Amino acid sequence: MSAVIIDGKAIAEEIRNQVAEKVAQRKQTGLSVPGLATVLVGENPASQVYVRSKHKTCEKLGIHSFNHVLPASTPQAEVIALVNELNQDKNVHGILVQLPLPKTLNEEEVLLNISVKKDVDGFHPINIGNLAQKGRTPSFVPCTPAGIIHLLKKNLPSLEGKNAVVLGRSNIVGMPVALLLVRENATVTICHSRSQDLPKITAAADILVASVGKPEMVRADWVKPGAVVIDVGINRVNDPSTEKGYRLVGDVAYDEVSEVASAITPVPGGVGPMTIAMLMQNTLRAAELSDPLG
Ligand code: GUN
Repeated sequence: MSAVIIDGKAIAEEIRNQVAEKVAQRKQTGLSVPGLATVLVGENPASQVYVRSKHKTCEKLGIHSFNHVLPASTPQAEVIALVNELNQDKNVHGILVQLPLPKTLNEEEVLLNISVKKDVDGFHPINIGNLAQKGRTPSFVPCTPAGIIHLLKKNLPSLEGKNAVVLGRSNIVGMPVALLLVRENATVTICHSRSQDLPKITAAADILVASVGKPEMVRADWVKPGAVVIDVGINRVNDPSTEKGYRLVGDVAYDEVSEVASAITPVPGGVGPMTIAMLMQNTLRAAELSDPLG
């Protein structure tokens, strides 16, 4: 079998176009222009790339964006003071503190101070708590997990009753995507570094989400024939045959797994583009929540 390639790039573009259209409509009807503030502390090169990309996408979609860059040595109180200033700013509808923060800072306290109504990352404990509980509705859902569910729904008529295995239990991807899968009535297994006999667990998965940061860890014999495989990993591996000397690979051995799966996300061009598209959607939603009748 040769798997369908799930084109995250094209699906993300669809979402961005929908957001751009709604932003334009808001402008025409005199409603506020959505505004996203990012806070980047320190000089992590990957974070700098992600934040730049978020601002570029805002610009393309007509969303205002405000870029706050602080030195790695910034004291906790100053980061919190900035978050509180942004909470009060009427032009800012969404606040994103780029993670990871420098180790000297207390991430939990910073995220706790973001207004729940501006928490476009969905990482505030109230939003995550509401995501985890039946009958509750979080104001926002974390972006990469929301993007993964969107891709799955495009490829499966229903997630109900499916065996879903999530590799990884991070706050940013593994845990929230597992919670979202439960909300879709999937039967969910979360695996992590202490899990035993991973290939046996993953071989029972109708849906396999890999988010562990280990290049090409998931092999063909880990995958049930016909499974839908979502690869969240973006790993650099040395490759002297390329101009840059490296290439990007996922957590899944793409070539061999595509012979077994029914559908698979490529790296790059699968989950990656979905994260920013969902952030744009969340920022639009934050502006809608701030509308007088929102
Ligand atoms: N670092 C990696 N992914 C994310 C994300 O989705 N949001 C934030 N704030 N930081 C990240």
